[in-house]
Amino acid sequence: MTRGRSVSDPDAPPTELGPATGAGVVVCVDPELPDAGVLARAGQLIRQGRLVAFPTETVYGLGANALDDAAVRRVFAAKGRAASDPLIVHLAAAEALREVTAGSRHTQGGARRSSSAGTGLDSPGRGTIFPGDVPFEELVRLLAGHFWPGPLTLVLPKSDRIPDSVTAGLPTVAVRVPRHPVAQGLLRAAGVPIAAPSANTFTRTSATAAAHVLEDLGGRVDLILDGGPAPIGIESTVVQVQGDSVRLLRPGAVSVEAIDRVLAQGGWPAVVAPQGASMGRAGEATGAAPPSPPLPLASPGMLEKHYAPRARLLFFSGPPEAARAAMRRAAGEALAAGQRVGLLLCQEDAALFHDLAGGVARGGSAEPAAGGVADGADVIMEDLGPCADLAVVGQRLFDAMRRLDARGADTICARSLPTTGLGLAIDDRLTRAAGGRVVRAG
Ligand code: TXA
Ligand code: MG
Repeated sequence: MTRGRSVSDPDAPPTELGPATGAGVVVCVDPELPDAGVLARAGQLIRQGRLVAFPTETVYGLGANALDDAAVRRVFAAKGRAASDPLIVHLAAAEALREVTAGSRHTQGGARRSSSAGTGLDSPGRGTIFPGDVPFEELVRLLAGHFWPGPLTLVLPKSDRIPDSVTAGLPTVAVRVPRHPVAQGLLRAAGVPIAAPSANTFTRTSATAAAHVLEDLGGRVDLILDGGPAPIGIESTVVQVQGDSVRLLRPGAVSVEAIDRVLAQGGWPAVVAPQGASMGRAGEATGAAPPSPPLPLASPGMLEKHYAPRARLLFFSGPPEAARAAMRRAAGEALAAGQRVGLLLCQEDAALFHDLAGGVARGGSAEPAAGGVADGADVIMEDLGPCADLAVVGQRLFDAMRRLDARGADTICARSLPTTGLGLAIDDRLTRAAGGRVVRAG
């Protein structure tokens, strides 16, 4: 493993970065002003069909040339990802939509609404986003104009240029324009659209730092661009634009409320979301048996078990006090069974659980908790930040899960927070990380 190795010569042969099978080289880059030489080399690797992990504003992505079927297959192999789970195609700018999407008159209807002038979409004139006439072009223009570059992914009709491996054979392609300067720089240097899933092992906790990528994929990726922690920490929101409707497929970093505000301005109907606060909440369970999925998988990646740490995660929903009490009981039971218990706590809760951690340090020097605790059992905590500051909670969430795993937690307990704004995505990730083990309290 070479860290911080110079790759400033864009014409150097790729072997300088290690064997083609992936040496897992990490190169540090300034997240605001990444070195042009490093980006040029990374872009060259992408064009050569190799894999580059890079930071986006949401999470780290594992990138490959989206037009190169063999390279895309390498992404699936590296992650151990099911071929049925399609990838997001990243573009440097909205103008590049033309290269990856298709006109869709034949498959999708929808009325054109009043003009969405003033959306902020830079240069394309009317009718130039798609290569053909698309009834919902105005709607796409409105959303792209407001949210790109940024963490909104649009599912649109796919161009034949995009291999079926990218889209798992679907007639649609998921597209976004990331705003992170390293992602932007890489896309521009590569000169091709980049297909990139989150850079973690399939179904596991997403990678929000280069160290997470190394942990999961080191040795299977040709280059990791280390631009520091991902600023948002939660993946993009995925919506499908169809006719005159915008359907939520995955809650994420852009809130449904924010999308609704923009849609309302353009005179479009609000986002269509499946019922229930969390898309991942498949009916609430009191036991460990995961319930069966309630909805057809409109987005094939919306697996019930996803984002999961190695430890068993229990997610407690309901009024805060009841959820905290249920968490405390579950933690006590796990401790009594000799487990190491990880608590994912927002700041105000941390104070309330302090007695648990203080009472039962591993090694047995402190007082055992009431009720008796087996030898070696203890409690470890990760602070998610202020309970009301969901941006901080979101930024820390995946990292905190990984830290509890690294510290040897057998069971992790977390409780639900408000599901407004970013809270919907946080709730979704915790529900899926729990693999359906949602305990309704109160
Ligand atoms: O923030 C993000 O979106 C990150 C960064 C790297 O951009 N990427 C990411 O990719 O989260 P991934 O592969 O972990 O999740 C992509 C999601 C999956 O739920 C997948 O099923 C869905 O997007 N998706 C992709 N193409 C789709 C399509 N054609 N139709 C419906 N859903 C699609
Ligand atoms: Mg993912």
